[in-house]
Amino acid sequence: MSDNPYQNARGNKDASIANPRPAGTLQSAGTENKTSGEKVSGQPFLIGDAMTGGYGTGADILHSCTIAVDEGEIAVIVGPNGAGKSTAMKAVFGMLNLREGAVRLDGEDITRLTPQARVAKGMAFVPQTSNIFTSMTVEENLEMGAFLREDDIADTMAQVYELFPILKDKRRQAAGELSGGQRQQVAVGRALMTKPQVLMLDEPTAGVSPIVMDELFDRIIEVARTGISILMVEQNARQALEIADKGYVLVQGRNGFTDTGKALLADPEVRKSFLGG
Ligand SMILES: Nc1ncnc2c1ncn2[C@@H]1O[C@H](COP(=O)(O)OP(=O)(O)O)[C@@H](O)[C@H]1O
Ligand SMILES: [Mg+2]
Repeated sequence: MSDNPYQNARGNKDASIANPRPAGTLQSAGTENKTSGEKVSGQPFLIGDAMTGGYGTGADILHSCTIAVDEGEIAVIVGPNGAGKSTAMKAVFGMLNLREGAVRLDGEDITRLTPQARVAKGMAFVPQTSNIFTSMTVEENLEMGAFLREDDIADTMAQVYELFPILKDKRRQAAGELSGGQRQQVAVGRALMTKPQVLMLDEPTAGVSPIVMDELFDRIIEVARTGISILMVEQNARQALEIADKGYVLVQGRNGFTDTGKALLADPEVRKSFLGG
């Protein structure tokens, strides 16, 4: 896999889905944070920096865990079950109170912002489970994704249908009637309806066949090429690292290994412990 054509020169040829400015209209979002506006240069576009914390008053799950993604790049989090991958995603999205560490988006400290305020700032999150409304139609799901927007959503919907043509065919069907792979397309499409700058995906290929997984990865690469940053958790570690600009191996809430996807795939220790040899 050494010559992955997507590894280099991520051209921003069609930036139509990408959003140069956050789409949300929650003006109050930025005012919660006094330091907003002061941008740190030379930082990744999105970073969960040395995050430590857990659920409620329970023990810490994350221990100085750092996850980052650059503009238009694909960062992949892998690691054993229970390593804290989903927890790290929730922490970056503001669903966990961090005891230590910070989350910064485009240099702005967003650590104290609610998830909704983060959506307004251009972040979208597709959780691991319950990521669609099964009793609603495909199109209604997409409309729900745009609930924060006050502008015309027709163009974005057309772009989502272009990315996932099967969804257009099935737009009047209840999302619950779709196959696993198609449901994941609905979930990703719904997230794209916010016109995000960063798309966070927790195990987008869970429970789908290898062919459907490849197909979904191709679409994700396509999304990244429009300039949207992708931060995703994947249990198909080998395949995911092949398309990753950056890879994170989490072990017990800590950064085990961090490198380019390519380097991690070539690392004997990573191969032996996490990629099945
Ligand atoms: N909502 C929760 N409340 C309390 N503990 C949780 C919750 N979700 C996950 N955990 C715990 O956090 C640890 C990491 O879980 P998780 O982030 O889901 O791992 P992964 O996604 O890597 O499989 C596990 O020990 C799990 O039991
Ligand atoms: Mg998980």
